[in-house]
Amino acid sequence: MFAERTSWNMQPNRFSAALECARSAGRELLDLTESNPTRVGLEYDTWVLEPLSTLAALDYRPEAKGLVRAREAVAAYYREREAQNIPGVDRIVLTTSTSEAYSFVFRLLCNPDDEVLVPAPSYPLFDFLASIQDVHLRPYPLIYDHGWHIDMHSLKQAIGARTRAVIVVHPNNPTGSFAKEKEIAALGELCRDLELAIVADEVFLDYALDGKSRQSFSSEQQALTFTLSGISKISALPQMKLAWIVVSGPEELAREAMGRLEVIADTYLSVSTPVQLAAREFFSARHSVQQQLRDRVRANVSELDRQLIGGCTPLDIEGGWYAVLRVPVTRSDEELAIELLDDGVIVHPGHFYDFPSDGYLVVSLICEPEKFAEGIERVLKRAAGPSLRSG
Ligand SMILES: Cc1ncc(COP(=O)(O)O)c(C=O)c1O
Repeated sequence: MFAERTSWNMQPNRFSAALECARSAGRELLDLTESNPTRVGLEYDTWVLEPLSTLAALDYRPEAKGLVRAREAVAAYYREREAQNIPGVDRIVLTTSTSEAYSFVFRLLCNPDDEVLVPAPSYPLFDFLASIQDVHLRPYPLIYDHGWHIDMHSLKQAIGARTRAVIVVHPNNPTGSFAKEKEIAALGELCRDLELAIVADEVFLDYALDGKSRQSFSSEQQALTFTLSGISKISALPQMKLAWIVVSGPEELAREAMGRLEVIADTYLSVSTPVQLAAREFFSARHSVQQQLRDRVRANVSELDRQLIGGCTPLDIEGGWYAVLRVPVTRSDEELAIELLDDGVIVHPGHFYDFPSDGYLVVSLICEPEKFAEGIERVLKRAAGPSLRSG
């Protein structure tokens, strides 16, 4: 009855089953995986809602790539942060989410069974985003050596006859690492020479821990490049469902890509009119909310450093909303995360994100500070072992 691509293993893994059990038993849990910005006590500007209820929102005049007014707001975002090669509205396509943007780009680039390269460790949704489009993922490793780096040698080795694109998450989730300028240049050259596309996911681009702005892939000119982002993270408004694709690279390829993307977008016309009318306000609202989130992340990183004990170390974080904790390997990460549920704390085991071995836990840095402090204390005590737990 059903397509093979949907024959997912629906059985909950041991951690999800244990979490479900703890929740249905009514246990109070400190959720250190909370990464929904609307649930962590931020203050939002309510004027962002005003354009949603204007009369213009009742008029329907769809444009496949998105209303010019909304695409201008996206272009203005890049104009404010980039020094050169600012995308024009003719190089921007709106989507409802970055996830939908991935689907459009996979549809554009890949035949069934083609491959795209993805970083490991990285974001678990990729498996679904790819398999729904009949695309296979091939991981390329990020290596940790005084910070995270793309292992260029392994990346090149992962390229095969069916590889169509290289995905870069900038900064990556959950490692928080930005692609370095040298890596961006090397990737551009490699992808240009091998006729591969770059797909750059920049949803966390504005969240550099040191506050310094990083270069966007939207200014990449060597290879055909699709830069994906959205207001779910940029303005902490995931419920509004507005994201985009910026197409850059060699003129002829970029023009051809835009023409084809326009047909894909026209088939769905998925972004709602009121949301597009409010795009400018959504972008204006980002300054206040980004400041709150950066302050929150910094406060939680300091708290984590303050509490560090026996053998637990956070890996370097350059940006984003997550911390990766290196913990002693006395049992599997899943086992440790399940034990932590008994202590009343939810964390993610590293294997959810494709870490190469046990010894990693992932926590969100946007949790409310009191919860974070209490939760991380329990995590560190449990992870560090019995002698410290009794102390
Ligand atoms: C790296 C990364 N890309 C994309 C997304 C999804 O963004 P959107 O809400 O726009 O689909 C997430 C969500 O957490 C993410 O972490």
